Amino acid sequence: MNKAWWQDAVIYQCYIRSFYDANGDGIGDFRGLIDKLQHFIDLGVDAVWVSPHYKSPMDDNGYDVSDYYQVSDDYGTLEDVKEFIARAHQHNIKVIFDLVLNHTSDEHPWFQAACDPNHPEHERYHDYYIWQPPKYDADGNRIKPTKWLSWFGGGVWDYNEPTDEYYLHIFSKKMPDLNWRNEAMKNDLKAVTKWLIDLGVDGFRVDASNHLEKNWDFPDAYPGYEHFSSLPKHHEYLEEFGRELFRPNNVMTMGEAGGASKEEAEKYVGYDHDEFNMLIQFGHCWQDCDWTNQITTGKWAKGDLNVVGIKESFAHFHDMLKGIGHNLIYWHNHDQPRVVSHYGNDQEYWKKSALMLLYTLYFMPGTAIVYQGEEIGMINVDYTDLSDFRDVEVFTEYDNFRSRGASHEYAMQALRDRSRDNARSPFQWSSEPYAGFSTTIPWMNVVGSYPTINLAAQQTDPTSIFNQYKTVFSMRKKRGISDGTLTFIELDHPDHYCYTNKVQEGTILVIANFRNKETLITLDMELDGYEELLSNCQQSLQPNMILQPYDAIVYFKKE
Ligand code: GLC
Repeated sequence: MNKAWWQDAVIYQCYIRSFYDANGDGIGDFRGLIDKLQHFIDLGVDAVWVSPHYKSPMDDNGYDVSDYYQVSDDYGTLEDVKEFIARAHQHNIKVIFDLVLNHTSDEHPWFQAACDPNHPEHERYHDYYIWQPPKYDADGNRIKPTKWLSWFGGGVWDYNEPTDEYYLHIFSKKMPDLNWRNEAMKNDLKAVTKWLIDLGVDGFRVDASNHLEKNWDFPDAYPGYEHFSSLPKHHEYLEEFGRELFRPNNVMTMGEAGGASKEEAEKYVGYDHDEFNMLIQFGHCWQDCDWTNQITTGKWAKGDLNVVGIKESFAHFHDMLKGIGHNLIYWHNHDQPRVVSHYGNDQEYWKKSALMLLYTLYFMPGTAIVYQGEEIGMINVDYTDLSDFRDVEVFTEYDNFRSRGASHEYAMQALRDRSRDNARSPFQWSSEPYAGFSTTIPWMNVVGSYPTINLAAQQTDPTSIFNQYKTVFSMRKKRGISDGTLTFIELDHPDHYCYTNKVQEGTILVIANFRNKETLITLDMELDGYEELLSNCQQSLQPNMILQPYDAIVYFKKE
């Protein structure tokens, strides 16, 4: 079987709003992508996944689409999009778009018609969305149909007075969920998808894909996630899109769907299934939560880092998919903190821990995604004012923390540690004003680290994080990393991250200390014949090694 392009690819996730501002309005844009195409070429990536570029009121930075057929004015014109695709293709770089199918913006004409009984197209569009009549309590007060909780922290229902109904939104209230049981709606989304394919894109990242189906009995529950996540019927919808659109047009798809069981994963990405090519899962992403914290709950409460949990998650998906589908690896996306701040150490061991994270992730099998800024070790935001933040989720959650007794400073620290804005600050190109991202005040402040952490400073230094990312990416292809077989060494060890990846021509051995303290590793295996490929420390391979904080070494043995 011929290998598909994506099977050993490195995909660069580009958060366009913060990548590069070419027209001086403080917001990244397609001309910025064109101007900085050389960055993708230099880094050696095979594809660029662009975050949503559609017309949008930007309540959720473009995941709230008000017109799929138009490009947001913030990002440029359709001509710019076409030029970007053409220029990327000239350099053999594929383009992946973000396909948002679970919801639209409340400013989408479909929803405007759906809300307004006097709108001439009301009949047609009302059922494109999900409505329920109000309930009433014992005192006759109107209450929401259920207590289901939205992913952004409030309830999932909002009231629409003109129809005396509630509409469902599992994200922000400006993002009403679409009704996938409505055939006309589905056909309209198929037309959107086909139109994007015809623009020349090579693939899609399918947003929120496991939420398409809801429990239409609307049972009351809190938080109720099981009533709008991973319900069996969403596979039918995805299969239909795969069969009619993705496969026949040869577009690669990666679906965002957390918590898949083996059976489900096979439906999503099994070689003989039609849904997706790869699965974006989240098992490794929040392995440092304090689940007992009652003030900042869930992902917002920082706890001890569970290194075993991270390894187990990668091992789980690798083992589960081996032989049945293709695996995908990444550290983080635009919804999680910067990995070097989150799982590494952004102070004393900034560079060393960034390299440790580079070596530990990218020698594992699977297609790889690198997130914008990771390649230069960008760190979390340093914002001190609530108004510095931008994410819709931040403001609801800040109020939640305060109402549960958090001090302002405690709540702010949670935002700096855990909010999605951490990953969204402008790319740090240079030490020039605004980090060289823009010539004017950016839509979101640049992080104070930019005079030292920036691309220009790293380009000339062969040992820099950037240059080592380049080296590792070129090694991935040369050594067939993506196709190998992963085996962790002492998976249960709480501090180190060691594995072998058996590839066609030999074995990769990665030895790393994930902690800010000494760790002993015992290697009960034949060590002869391994040569060092990369290292961020002074170590020699032996059966017992005392690893210093964040020590990491990559070896290779030819068969
Ligand atoms: C996905 C996106 C996230 C967005 C949400 C709603 O989880 O990654 O950024 O807010 O979907 O579209």
